[in-house]
Formats: sequence, C-alpha cells, structure tokens
Amino acid sequence: MTMPSRWPAVLQAVMKGQPQALADDDYPRWHLAPVTGLMNDPNGFIWFAGRYHLFYQWNPLGCDHRYKCWGHWSSADLVQWQHEPMALMPDEEYDRNGCYSGSAVDDQGVLTLCYTGNVKFDDGSRTAWQCLAVQNETGGFDKLGPVLALPEGYTGHVRDPKVWQHEGHWYMVLGAQDLQKRGKVLLYQSADLRSWQPRGEIAGHGVNGLQNAGYMWECPDLFELDGTHVLICCPQGLAREPHRYLNTYPATWMHRDFRYDPATFTHGELQELDAGFEFYAPQTTLAADGRRILIGWMGVPDGEEMLQPTRENGWIHQMTCPRELHFREGKLWQTPVQELQQLRQTEHSWQGSADNAPLLDATRLEFELRADAPVKVNFANTLWLSLDEKGIRLERKSLHNDDMLTRYWQGKVTSLRVLCDSSSVEIFVNEGEGVMSSRYFPHHPAQIGFEGASAITLRYWSLRASMVE
Ligand code: FRU
Repeated sequence: MTMPSRWPAVLQAVMKGQPQALADDDYPRWHLAPVTGLMNDPNGFIWFAGRYHLFYQWNPLGCDHRYKCWGHWSSADLVQWQHEPMALMPDEEYDRNGCYSGSAVDDQGVLTLCYTGNVKFDDGSRTAWQCLAVQNETGGFDKLGPVLALPEGYTGHVRDPKVWQHEGHWYMVLGAQDLQKRGKVLLYQSADLRSWQPRGEIAGHGVNGLQNAGYMWECPDLFELDGTHVLICCPQGLAREPHRYLNTYPATWMHRDFRYDPATFTHGELQELDAGFEFYAPQTTLAADGRRILIGWMGVPDGEEMLQPTRENGWIHQMTCPRELHFREGKLWQTPVQELQQLRQTEHSWQGSADNAPLLDATRLEFELRADAPVKVNFANTLWLSLDEKGIRLERKSLHNDDMLTRYWQGKVTSLRVLCDSSSVEIFVNEGEGVMSSRYFPHHPAQIGFEGASAITLRYWSLRASMVE
C-alpha cells in the first residue's frame, strides 16, 4: 500500500464530501467528528499560546484504517472549535504507512509534534520510527524525521509517544510489544527531544508482577494527578470478564508511585476507564489553570465499526466530550469540563413517576436523573439503560445480528448525568465515579423516554449546536 502522491489535490477532492456528512442526522452537533473519512485517536492534545490544539488520526480518503494523517482543530474554550490545516501526511519513507498517534509539546515556544512513523513490509512485518515535526510560520508543520528507531527486543509494534517535561528533561512513554508478544510501556529520556536514552520498561507484562496483561499496549499516558501518578493505556488482548473488558479493546488506568531515578512505577490493579460500548485511545493534557483534561475516541477498532451506518454518508466516528479528571477515594473520576455548560439552553425540572415523565428530544440534550428505585431509560428504542440496586445495564442490539449486547457499571448509583448528541450518549455516574460512552444510531427525530413506577427527579437542558467553523 503506497500513499497517493498528490495529497493537496486529493484533499481538495475529498473535502467535497463534507456537505454529505453535515447533512447526516447522525452527525454530531457539538462533538468533534471528521468531515469526511475515518477519525480515530485524539493526538497532540495541548494548551499552547492561548489555545487548545487537538490533532487526530484521520484517513480523509475513506472510512477505513489506511492513510493515517494528523488532522488538526483548535479552540479557545474547549467548546467552539475551528479547523486548522492538515498537520501531517504519510508522505515520507519513514512514515509511509501512516503518521500514527503521538503527542505535542511546547519546545521553547515552538509547537512540536512527536508521532510514530509506521512502515510495513511485504512479508507482513513492520517497523516504527518515533518522529518529530515543528510548526512553521504558516501554521503548517515541517517534519524533522525520525529521532528514535525500533529498540531491540521488541516487534515493530512500538508507538504512540506521549512526551512531557520534568525538571529540565524530556520524558516519553511508548506502547510496545516484546518479542514474546506481550504488552509493555517503555520510558525514554532526552535533553533536547532529538536524542533519546532508554530508561526501561515501566509497566506491562512481568513488571510489578503483572501477568496475562495482553499482547500489545497502545497509547500510554503518564501524569501526576491529585497527589498520585496515573498511567492510562490501552492493553490489547485482555481476557473478557463477566462485567468488564467486554469491548474488543479496553482503555484502562492504574495508579500509585512513579519515580524518575531509577525509573520505576509501582501500581495497583488495572481498572477499566469507561464501561460503555465505545471508548478507546484517550489522551490528556494540562489546561492553563492546571486542570487535567481528557478526550477519548468514541470508537473501538472492531468488526462492528465497519457496519456503522454513517459510512454511507462518507464519515465515521467521533470524539468524547472533554472531561476533567480527578483522583479521590482510590478512584479516577471524570466529569464534563465546566465550559460545556455554555451549551445549555433553558433549564427544566420535573418530578413524578417515571411512567409519566415527559419525552425528551435526544438530539442535543443534557439531563440529570435521580431515582428512588429501579428505572429504565429508553433512548429512541435503540439503546436502553436499566438502573437498579446492583448498578447499570446498558443494552443495544448488535449491528451484525439481532443479539442483545450489554455493558455494566456495578455499584450504588445516586445520580446520573447524561450528555447526548445526534448519535452518542455519555453517562456520568455519581458525579463522575463511572462513565459509559456509547454511540447509537436511532431513527430521527430521536426521543428519550423513562419507564417504571419509581419516583424520579429530572433536570434537563437542550444544548446549543457548536459546529466546527
Ligand atoms: C490506537 C492505534 C494506535 C496507533 C493508531 C493508528 O487506536 O492503533 O496505537 O498509533 O491507532 O491509527
């Protein structure tokens, strides 16, 4: 697979697909999504020179996982975004099969991208180069080429550099697969971003006694939060359990103590970061005011993704809303960033038995629900949330057949906050103790109803659209 050689002409042609996506009733009205083609991981999330920048894995040429470029949006407030010129395209030998995921840093005032150049060979093997690109005066990016080759002892699956600065040094975590096909997280150190020294494996199979932790760990992100260190990563190949790790690939987190010298990360159990159907490859950044903010890909590379109906309109997948992270009571909490409250229109409240509750317009909606007994929320006869004393069951039909699929959040539920867009729901349990993110493809106009005899209290807002400019 070689990339098309005349990218600008190709892009002009594909951007003509944009009106088709925007006219799709399933196209998000306040979340980020590709105007055409396939979008996956958030990349290069950063607050830089007064604006947030979010890059993303993007195949603008089709709804499949080829030709990965870096698309680019920016925003002053995490609510209203604007398109920026395409940042990276796979047009060099060292990234010819994709400018894969990575991060962005402020290197003495220069916005600098760290990404993986993915190279595949005819025999099915591959290699990976960790690469740099720097922003130029036009806002575009100049590639500086590879700064780190594939280390010995690993397969060609070494990727997704997340880079940060600490006490005058640069550090980078990489997702990796060792030669025995076991997932790892590698740490590197550098004085100048150009030359990197290995500091060892800090997580994965065999580290801290962890066993059976999957065959590849993708998209690591290590950061300090509320007095602890959190590592987020996406281990592929974890065994399914009755109530968790039910998606093809999960996003997970663990926490405790990270030391720079010698580099060690002691941590507790791996935990699932989001219990919904679609959530993967999240990335965090620090906001100007010190908040740790996360955006995830509301997708999973699995068999179902290729059956999503939006492909007929030339686009697929969306991001989650931006979420603020906190660590308390041994758990990682996620709540929608407060800026999103700008989207709220008139507030409504309602109290009574669930069966008599008003039908809500699901298209752009936020609602808070409290219930004193079991209740069911029906999202347009396409997705169902059942709440009882054990927790939450979220159900929808498989896109392959009529099988009912279920995801679970277990524990006592005192409140739910649900953010809906045209074809997505994000369910925040107990002010962020748990989250379930899911796509669904209802008939439009979509309505949300409540079922059950229990008394419920509702607060709800219809949300303003905030399409990308
Ligand atoms: C995660 C991932 C990354 C890789 C990128 C390629 O979804 O597989 O590991 O860099 O997607 O698009």
